[in-house]
Amino acid sequence: MSKVRIYTLAKDLGVDNQKLLEILDSLGVVYKSVSSTLDEDTVETIKEILAAEAAGGTPAQPGTATQGAPATDTTDAATETDAAPAAAPTPAAPQPTPKDDVTPTPAAPTPTPAQAATASHAAAVAVAEAPAREIPHRSPVVTIMGHVDHGKTSLLDYIRKTKVAAKEAGGITQHVGAFEAQTSKGRIVFIDTPGHEAFTTIRARGANVADIAIIVVAADDSIMPQTREAIAHAQAAKVPLIVAINKVDLPQADVDRVKTDLTMVNLVPEEFGGDTVVVPVSAKTGEGVEDLLEYISLTAELEDLRADPNGEFSGVIIESKVDRQAGVLATVMVQEGTINVGDFLVVGETYGKIKAMTDSLGGRIKSAGPSTPVQVLGFSEAPVSGDKVASASNEHAAREKVAVRVDTRRTVEEARAQRKLSLEEMMGS
Ligand code: GTP
Ligand code: MG
Repeated sequence: MSKVRIYTLAKDLGVDNQKLLEILDSLGVVYKSVSSTLDEDTVETIKEILAAEAAGGTPAQPGTATQGAPATDTTDAATETDAAPAAAPTPAAPQPTPKDDVTPTPAAPTPTPAQAATASHAAAVAVAEAPAREIPHRSPVVTIMGHVDHGKTSLLDYIRKTKVAAKEAGGITQHVGAFEAQTSKGRIVFIDTPGHEAFTTIRARGANVADIAIIVVAADDSIMPQTREAIAHAQAAKVPLIVAINKVDLPQADVDRVKTDLTMVNLVPEEFGGDTVVVPVSAKTGEGVEDLLEYISLTAELEDLRADPNGEFSGVIIESKVDRQAGVLATVMVQEGTINVGDFLVVGETYGKIKAMTDSLGGRIKSAGPSTPVQVLGFSEAPVSGDKVASASNEHAAREKVAVRVDTRRTVEEARAQRKLSLEEMMGS
C-alpha cells in the first residue's frame, strides 16, 4: 500500500478530519495539513485505534488502556505516556507536535496500539477539559487575491450565483467586498480584493482578516506580478493558501505550466510532492468549483476556527465610504462577540452609535455575530480601513475610551517632540 492523505483516509474510514488529527497528535505524528500523507504503519495504527474504540475497547480510565488492545513490549516512551495521566492531576496530554514541518514523520517509533490507545485517551480527556473546545465554531473568512483580470470576482459570482463582475466599472474591482455565501459546504464568508497594481494596501488588509487565502491564477496567463504580491501578503499574514487555477475552459489554458511556475515561487503542488493545494477551476463553466469549496472546508476544519458570540465584541473595519444621502457607511467584520443596533462602537479616535445594519445581501439586520460582515450606519466620520473596532456599553464609556486614546497619542507625541528638542540642543543647533 502506498502513502495515503489524511483527508482521504478520513473519508475511507468514515470519521471526520478533526478526529484523525487528534489521533495523529496523540501518536506524535507530525503533519502539516489534512493533505499530508501518512505511511502504512501509521494508517494501520489508526485503524486499530478506531477498531478498538468501536469495540468499546477505549478505556474509561487511564491505566486500563492495555485491555482494549494486545499489549506488546513496554518501551520508555510507553512508560512516559502511561505515567502522565496517572501522575499529574490534570492529564498531561501529549503536546501537539509542531505542524510546520514539511514531511509527516513519526516523532517517535510508531507506538503499539496499546500505547496509542492510552495516548489517544489522554488527548481525549485533555480535549474535554480544554475550555477552548467549548467555544462554538465560526464560518471561515476566505480572501480571494490574485493578478488583475484573472477572474476573482467571476469566481465569487459563480459561487454566490451573482453577477457582480459584469457590473463593475471597466470590469475592474476597486474596493474590497465582503460577502456571505451559503455553499454546499456550509456558510463561507468571502472577501474579494482588487488585482490592479494600485491597490496593494487593500490586498494586504484583505489578507490580514483572512483565515484562508485563495490565490487565483489564470491558466492562460500564469504567475504575474500581483500573483506574487498576493502570495507574499498571504504568507506575511500567516494564513494557509489554496491556489485556484482559473479559466481552464479556455483553449489556451495550460494548467501544467502554472503548476511548474508555482514551484518557482516555492509553492510546490501536491502532485509534485509538495503541500500546496492546487485546484483547477473555471468561473465560466463551474468546473472544479465544488472541489475548491471542499478544500476550503477541509482547511477550515483543520484551522479549527472558533469564536464566542457571547464574548466581548471585537471586529475590524473592512472599508468605509461616505454616501451623500445615508452618511458614513462602514463595513465591519465581526470577529468575536455580537453587535446590535443601538450599540456604541469605538474605532481609532472616533465612536458611533449603530443606527442601522445591513448584511452583505443588503437586508436589514438587528444583530451580527462572529464571521459576519455588516454595513454599519452611525459613525460621524469615516473610520480608517483595517482599524480595529471595539464596543462600549454607552455613550459615556465610548467617549472615555476615545479620550484615553487621544491622551495616549498626545503623550507619545509630546515625548517624541521633547526627545527631538533635546537631541537638537545636544547637537548645538
Ligand atoms: P480585478 O478585480 O480587476 O483584478 O479582476 P478579477 O480578477 O476580479 O477578474 P474578473 O472576474 O473581473 O474577470 C476578468 C475577465 O475574465 C472577465 O471578462 C471574465 O468574464 C473573464 N473570466 C473570469 N473567469 C473566467 C473563466 O473561468 N473562463 C473564462 N473563459 N473567462 C473568465
Ligand atoms: Mg474583481
